[in-house]
Formats: sequence, structure tokens, C-alpha cells
Amino acid sequence: MKNKWKILIVDDDLSISRSYQKYLGSEGYTVFTADDGRSGFMMIEKERPDLVLLDINMPVKTGLELLEDLNRVFEKKDMPLIIMLTAYGDLDAAIKAMSLGAYEFLTKPVPLEKLRSTVECALETLTLKERVAYFIEPDSTPFKDTIIGRDPLMVDIYKTIGTLKGNKATVLVTGESGTGKEMVAKAIHENTVPGEPFIAINCAAIPENLIESELMGYVKGAFTGATANHDGKFELVKGGTLVLDEISEMPYDFQTKLLRVIQERDFYPIGASDKKRFNGRIVALTNKNLKELAENGKFREDLFYRLNVISISVPPLRNHMNDLEMLILHFIKKANFTQNTAIQSITKEAVDYLRSHTWPGNIRELENTILHASVKAKDKILTRDSFSSFLVPEKKDQSSAGTRQNTVDDLVMPEKLMPLRDVEKNYIEFVLRQTNWHKGKTAELLGITRPTLDKRIEEFGLHKDV
Ligand SMILES: Nc1ncnc2c1ncn2[C@@H]1O[C@H](COP(=O)(O)OP(=O)(O)OP(=O)(O)O)[C@@H](O)[C@H]1O
Ligand SMILES: [Mg+2]
Repeated sequence: MKNKWKILIVDDDLSISRSYQKYLGSEGYTVFTADDGRSGFMMIEKERPDLVLLDINMPVKTGLELLEDLNRVFEKKDMPLIIMLTAYGDLDAAIKAMSLGAYEFLTKPVPLEKLRSTVECALETLTLKERVAYFIEPDSTPFKDTIIGRDPLMVDIYKTIGTLKGNKATVLVTGESGTGKEMVAKAIHENTVPGEPFIAINCAAIPENLIESELMGYVKGAFTGATANHDGKFELVKGGTLVLDEISEMPYDFQTKLLRVIQERDFYPIGASDKKRFNGRIVALTNKNLKELAENGKFREDLFYRLNVISISVPPLRNHMNDLEMLILHFIKKANFTQNTAIQSITKEAVDYLRSHTWPGNIRELENTILHASVKAKDKILTRDSFSSFLVPEKKDQSSAGTRQNTVDDLVMPEKLMPLRDVEKNYIEFVLRQTNWHKGKTAELLGITRPTLDKRIEEFGLHKDV
């Protein structure tokens, strides 16, 4: 493979250029030499080397002058990689060379092993460049956190959102965890009443006895501790959007009251004798099958039908993989914007690798994966290696994983053997990352109880790192 690379050495010290030529030649590269800046330039035009080892102090034309000529004559994409060879004390010239686009500088005398590894690294970046699938243009469009996707399944969602303008119809948004339900709720808001309040509450996170006062509000003296009037979310949201996340967890008793608010569009704050109008739109979110819960008596059926007037089903990522590339680029930009990373491109292999994953955690998992890889990347390019340490390749037929017995063949074995404890630790950490540290889901996937999971997390000292 190496003989496909051409290297030119430009140095007036013939003993040096000969020894480098011999050494790099024995490594399999095709090597030319030139002994001053002018003949070096002619050689570059004639042979089009991939990489030039360029001395700075030379007769006729110096290395820096040659570099200036190259910048004038060649387009950036046609420039060979330049590694400057500098004598001790040439630091200013070396810095100038870097500003003229040199890749690296080496101080002479360069140990041969160092020469080899620097050349190899430099050429590796060329290999990567050839393989790049996408460049992220730094200032093309600034990052904007909006909903991404052009798949027909997503386009259907946009169409439904389009019909909501001018009305206050309740919307039920369903979809697996991490598919973008909240993103859809925001898009509904932005496209209908952007100037009004947007309020989101998570029904699973508010204690049962507080949900009523949170939503309805209360008047002074309504109960012990109600020392002043308190406006609830139904009031605070005004003509805006009230998102009820994890609606399946809404206390059963309160569901009747919610139904009434939706039907009558008014409500009584706790302890109040006058009712108030509800002017907002309710958008309810769930990753559960609400209809099934209603049929099994776990959710009020009348409320289900009332919420389900307009329903939007957000597809799992595996059903709109056409959007994968757009989403990847969007999240690289997001990482550059929010984490201050400077990723400029991603290779085709990396994209193919991400495509081979089935994304059980959906878009959230993709986002976390890209953010994580961007932060950890040593270079400005994301490669397959940027992901392989924490994204285990899967088998394509995983969609049926739930119905068949898992076997040892489903596991990707570590390259070197390790104690069972380490395997356990690594695997728990892996599943936690996949679920974005959703402990309930992690315990479920691992088939252990939540307290056992907590114990393991503590024992192994695991913690969320991005
Ligand atoms: N279509 C999309 N375009 C851009 N970003 C998206 C899209 N869908 C989801 N995201 C991003 O993925 C992450 C998860 O999305 P979101 O919180 O909306 O998912 P969710 O369906 O509400 O998940 P959960 O059920 O777990 O609450 C967010 O950071 C969001 O910005
Ligand atoms: Mg959500």
C-alpha cells in the first residue's frame, strides 16, 4: 500500500536527504529528492508528491519561499502535505511555515523512527481525507436546534402540525423513548403560538398530591400552608402550549378533572368559588400504549379518547434511517456549538458504521453518541474508531431480539480475556450509556432490580461522563 505514496525530500544537505531517501524507500514509499527550493518546486509540479519534507535554509530559494510559491500556485486541495525540517533555533521560521499551511515541523537531526511515524501519521490524514463522507462547513449555517428529518414519516408530522394553526385542539404525541416527542411539542408551539408561554411538566415527576395544585393553582387559605394565592399552569400558560409529558403517569383521580378542563375549557383553582378560563393548548406525550392502558383500566378511557383527537406518532429512528446522515451532521454541529468541539468532517466508514446500528435509544442515543465521540476525538475528523469503543456493532436482525433466546453468539467478545467482574462492569456501563443513564430502563434491559443496579453502580464507581 505504501508505494502508492510519493514523498519528495528537499534539502541541500545531501547526506541527510540520501539517508532519509534510503530509509523511507526501504519502508516502501516512492521517494524523490531535490537540493534547493527552485528544483524542489519544479519537482513538485512534475511528480505531484503526496508529502514533502522541506528544509528551511537552502541556497537559491529557501523552504519558506518555496512554501509561499506553492500557496500562490496551488489550490489548497491540491497542495502536498508539508513537513518542515528545521535546524535547532529556527523556531520563528517554523511558526511562519505552520501559518503557511505546513502540517508539522521536525527539528534536525530527526531520528529515523520519529521520521517514519510522523510521515505515517501525516499520510494517514490524507487517507482519511479521501474517505471523508461529509465536511461540516464552519459558518455555512449556524446551529439551530430545530426538528430535523425529510423522511415521509417526518413530513407527515409537519403536515399535521400545519393543520394546528388557529385552533386549540388537544394533541397526543406518542413514540418510543428518545424519538423526539418533546421536539414535536416544541415545533407545535413554534408553529402556532410562538409568542405565548410554553410550559412543560412531567406527570411522573410531580408527587400525586401536588399535581392538582401545580396545574389548577389555589387561593389563599385553601389548605394549611396556602398562605397566598398561587397561579397554576393552566393559568400561567395563557394562550400558549401546556405539555403534559408521561401522561400515562397522571394520577387516576386527577384524570377526571383534566378531562373536565379539556371539555369545558375552564377550571376552579383549589378553594376558589369562581372558575377561570383555560386558553391554552394541551399537548400530551407518552411512550406507552395509552389505548391498551385504557382497555386494561389503567388509564381513563374517556380521557384517552379526548386526548386522542389529533394524534402524532413519532417513528423510531430505525424506521426513518434516510434521515440518519442529516441528523449526524446536525449533531456534529450541535457538539461544536454546545461543547466547543471543532469537528470538521466524518468518514464514510463512520457513517456506515452508525448506519449498521439499530438505535434502540433512538435519536437521543444518536445525539449522545455523536456528542460523546466529538468530545473524545483527538482530531477534527470522526472516524469509525471514534465510535467503536462505546458502540458495540450489532447484528442486523436485532429487531427480533426480544422474541428469540439470546445466545453466546449475540455477544461481541472482548479481544483479551478478562475477569467476569470487569465484563460485568463494562457491560453495565455500556447499557447505561445506551439508555442515557435511564436507570429504570437499564435495570429492565439487564434483567436486574433497580436497587441491584444502584448497588453495582456504586460498587464499580460508575458515573455519567458527558
Ligand atoms: N427530529 C429531530 N431533530 C433534531 N433533534 C432531535 C430530533 N428528535 C429528537 N431530537 C433530539 O433528541 C433528544 C431527545 O428528544 P426528545 O427529548 O424530544 O425525545 P422524547 O421522545 O421526548 O424522549 P423521552 O420519551 O425519553 O422523553 C433531544 O435532545 C432532541 O433535541
Ligand atoms: Mg421527552
